[in-house]
Amino acid sequence: MTDISGRWAGRLTSRPLADVDETIDALTKEERAACVVEWLGRAAAERRASDAFQVIESALASVDADPVLRSLGTRAIDDELRHAEICRLVAERYAGHALEAPKRLSLEAPAHAEAPARLRPALHVIGQCAINETTATAYLEACLASARGPLVRGALRELLSDDVDHARIGWAFLVSLTPEAKRAIEPFLVPMVRAHVRTWRKPSPPRPSARLSEHGALDPKAIDEAVVESVRALIVPGLDAVGIESAGLRGWLDAGACS
Ligand SMILES: [Fe+2]
Ligand SMILES: [Fe+2]
Repeated sequence: MTDISGRWAGRLTSRPLADVDETIDALTKEERAACVVEWLGRAAAERRASDAFQVIESALASVDADPVLRSLGTRAIDDELRHAEICRLVAERYAGHALEAPKRLSLEAPAHAEAPARLRPALHVIGQCAINETTATAYLEACLASARGPLVRGALRELLSDDVDHARIGWAFLVSLTPEAKRAIEPFLVPMVRAHVRTWRKPSPPRPSARLSEHGALDPKAIDEAVVESVRALIVPGLDAVGIESAGLRGWLDAGACS
């Protein structure tokens, strides 16, 4: 495991986050409180994503992946720490006072117990990067499409630009696999995607107003649509392009993608 304490120090964002945001001032107390919950929740999830990339760093090393992918995987540990801090700062702006970083969430990396041990590092890389980070980019794009305030728009752009790179790790890794390795991972793809989509469907706190979508807090239906559409428009064509059978995934989508 890599020591990550304080590694992102020196560059939090590529462009400074907005100091003035009148859209925040226009919110009610309840709306601002809901935005604090939203952005602190994001901060916790981003911190956990950094922990997930520690697993990916080890997985890429264990399969002797291309050095460029390995360095991107290591950088992602820092990127996600930066994302956590960006989200905490956004939450502070909605709160109007200093906030502690949220409690660290425990990471439960998928065990892939049904897969042979030699395949598990590859499944970790594919799951975290090609699947999770691809759906994350679609989610962030949907958030950005609804977001109005300069602070939130700047934060979302920062998160999105890194997550595009994180997804590329997974797709470049898939390209690098031998035909035999691609055949070996095919049976695990549909269960992995279904399990991942389920993680986006957890209950969310009550929403005081529809205006929250303008501040990065999409309603659950919009999130689900963005995530499922990313499977249809990005993941399935991506698998087709790298020569991995996607019929099972297409069948799941055609059946409603609801389980
Ligand atoms: Fe992130
Ligand atoms: Fe990411």
